[in-house]
Amino acid sequence: MSAPNKEFDPKQVSDLSEDSVNRMVAAALTAIGAAGDLSELKEVRLAHFGDRSPLALANREIGALPPAAKAEVGKRVGHAKAQIKDSLTSREEELELLRDQQALLQEVVDITVPTDREWTGGRHPLTTLMDAMADVFIAMGYSVAEGPELEAEWVNFDALNVPADHPARTMQDTFYVTSSDSGAVLRTQTSPIQIRAMLERDPPIYVVAPGRVYRTDELDATHTPVFHQIEGLAVDRGLTMAHLKGTLDHLAEQMFGAGIVTRLRPSYFPFTEPSAEVDLQCFVCRGSSIGNPDASCRTCGSEGWIEWGGCGMVNPRVLRAVGIDPHAYTGFAFGMGIERTLMFRNGVTDMRDMVEGDLRFTRAFGVEA
Ligand code: DAH
Repeated sequence: MSAPNKEFDPKQVSDLSEDSVNRMVAAALTAIGAAGDLSELKEVRLAHFGDRSPLALANREIGALPPAAKAEVGKRVGHAKAQIKDSLTSREEELELLRDQQALLQEVVDITVPTDREWTGGRHPLTTLMDAMADVFIAMGYSVAEGPELEAEWVNFDALNVPADHPARTMQDTFYVTSSDSGAVLRTQTSPIQIRAMLERDPPIYVVAPGRVYRTDELDATHTPVFHQIEGLAVDRGLTMAHLKGTLDHLAEQMFGAGIVTRLRPSYFPFTEPSAEVDLQCFVCRGSSIGNPDASCRTCGSEGWIEWGGCGMVNPRVLRAVGIDPHAYTGFAFGMGIERTLMFRNGVTDMRDMVEGDLRFTRAFGVEA
């Protein structure tokens, strides 16, 4: 309540008349209604409801009234204050809503407006696929091994038990750097990295080697003279083909989905004995398309299996060539083409798309990690 009024002024007391208070309320309500935004309303609040507003000043005079009038006038002022306060609150809510609506309109982002797109660089899908395959082995404790793309003929062929007269060694298949007796070739496979790994390390050896390889093929839908392979090699005591099969099945599952297995078909490679072709169970039809013309499968040509690579137990002659005792150690190895893998994994039908560097092709792979 107000302190006793020492400076009594009858003119001001007349401000507490019903008329006068009604006028103050009317003026306040009009001003509140006219406030167009929250900052205007703030000023109105100060002018009509603040400590120095006419109503507040008049209110101070209550103390000067005769006791009989105090209650009535107090009620009148209280009622006036409540009216102004209510009006302020509801106008404030309205203006807040208005402000929010305007903000939504003004700050709207038109996502259809064309922009100058800035493309960020991405890695080539062959690179990401190679890394993804290598990662499966890194997770099993393998390390990544490397070798030069310009390789000694002895490492690329002889140490791998490829005989001197093997057709793969002819200049029709292999890029010799100067002449066919230079002793230097562009490696035709990642298998020479096996030799380097075994020369550099003592068993147990668990390495995976993705890399670029070269052959004198013409570029067409299914061949390219520069391509990529991934090689795996394990040399340890007591390794068997069962370990090889389990390893390949694990890779197949990791790359193509749970339950996808591999099949080994007897074959021949000079550096493995026994040797096998690795087939991948078709991850699209899972074999259901075999002999089922109503549900043919484009991925495997309704074969149920897709040729993936080669593998086998490291030939004892290869172990001996790098100074590992084949009676103490056995090994398994495998190798597969990355381009081929990308083709059936991502439905790429033409290998040329992978080498031409057209961004319209690579961008489709986005930022696949
Ligand atoms: N190097 C072989 C090729 O290019 C693929 C291969 C077959 C690799 C058998 C291996 C293996 O490690 O054991 O055709």
